[in-house]
Amino acid sequence: MSAEPSVSPSRVGVWLIGARGSVATTAVAGCAAVTAGLHPPTGMVTETGAFHRAGLPSLPSLVFGGHDVVDCPLPKRAESLAAGGVLPHDLPSAVAAELAAADREISIGGPLPGDTRTEDELIEALAQDIRDFTRRGGLARTVVVNVASTEPVPEGDALPASSLYAAAALRAGCPYVNFTPSAGLHHPRLAPAAASSGLPYAGRDGKTGQTLLRSVLGPMFAQRALAVRAWSGTNLLGGGDGAALADPAAAAAKNAGKERVLADTLGTVPEGETHIDDVPSLGDWKTAWDHIAFDGFLGTRMVLQTTWQGCDSSLAAPLILDLARLVARAHELGLSGPLAELGFYFKDPVGEGPAALGEQYAHLIGFAERLRQLAPPPGPGTGPAVPEGVAGEHR
Ligand SMILES: NC(=O)c1ccc[n+]([C@@H]2O[C@H](COP(=O)([O-])OP(=O)(O)OC[C@H]3O[C@@H](n4cnc5c(N)ncnc54)[C@H](O)[C@@H]3O)[C@@H](O)[C@H]2O)c1
Repeated sequence: MSAEPSVSPSRVGVWLIGARGSVATTAVAGCAAVTAGLHPPTGMVTETGAFHRAGLPSLPSLVFGGHDVVDCPLPKRAESLAAGGVLPHDLPSAVAAELAAADREISIGGPLPGDTRTEDELIEALAQDIRDFTRRGGLARTVVVNVASTEPVPEGDALPASSLYAAAALRAGCPYVNFTPSAGLHHPRLAPAAASSGLPYAGRDGKTGQTLLRSVLGPMFAQRALAVRAWSGTNLLGGGDGAALADPAAAAAKNAGKERVLADTLGTVPEGETHIDDVPSLGDWKTAWDHIAFDGFLGTRMVLQTTWQGCDSSLAAPLILDLARLVARAHELGLSGPLAELGFYFKDPVGEGPAALGEQYAHLIGFAERLRQLAPPPGPGTGPAVPEGVAGEHR
């Protein structure tokens, strides 16, 4: 009989839903690259001075695993990202061991085509995978991060896949981050379990390009008392995300967050729409164009146009590492409920908070200060228990 691995207070699990996707693979490879000193932590806000004494888990202490519904090995996925120029060409071989280690910790998720398991059976199976990972690794805690394909807005009462995973995270006693616009913990049936779980959570939908820019420009127009008449946007992208967002119902979930930031920062909903076009040959590179028509003094008509050309996964991956570290630390300190201070990272943030990026950054820095000041916990692995409900018990 093999002995149980002892729990290390410093090892933290990062359980990625959609673990074989572009964002997840870039986060795993990137964490290994920065840990090995091969690349600087560009884009990681938690590596800046304000976070130095916030007690965040170190990058080498992060252990990766997750669920996916495809079986492409992570090293192979990394090679195709390198071939597409998303990862440096020599990175997959330089971090081959770390990619292989994460690959061994990826389980098949669900629901699978023809799956006959009930909601509760699926939630229990997914939660058990997360518990097993945490126990096998001797991890002090595991943060569950949703980076799976965007789902359409759910209709009816059944829990969509993202909400089954969110319920599984609660049932396994894990803090949760939703980096996608999918329902996740937002589903009305999960609200009581989320509220009584005693667990911290953050979301929704990472803010990495067009919406990041909107959260800076919206406040500028409002503060200068310039009247925005219309704000129209188009996104061209390929990759798995582009393919998923070719479904108008999935794109609607994404565009709701992009438009919310305009309403919240301008105080009105300007005319104009946001569109997403799947252009497979662009791969992970996104071009986001915004056309902003506004009035100046005496009604003079003017236009601002912006063109953002970004590599989506390399914009998102450092945020995944930031969020995993911040939410793990919040859990360690016994914080619970929506972490509104992390609105800086999201298009459609949970909880009450400002919508302008500058104010969101100030809140984030305040959060770092709060993490620094809070007392250390009594011992490792003492996360709060989860009461029964949709999410069931934390075992
Ligand atoms: N800048 C960004 O990249 C950015 C910003 C905000 C949000 N996001 C969101 O992050 C998510 C991931 O983006 P990506 O580019 O990595 O997409 P991707 O298509 O490369 O990866 C998604 C992964 O999710 C997996 N998946 C699908 N259904 C699943 C299920 N039921 N269970 C488990 N896994 C499942 C897929 O097999 C795939 O491996 C998307 O929802 C995207 O909208 C990305």
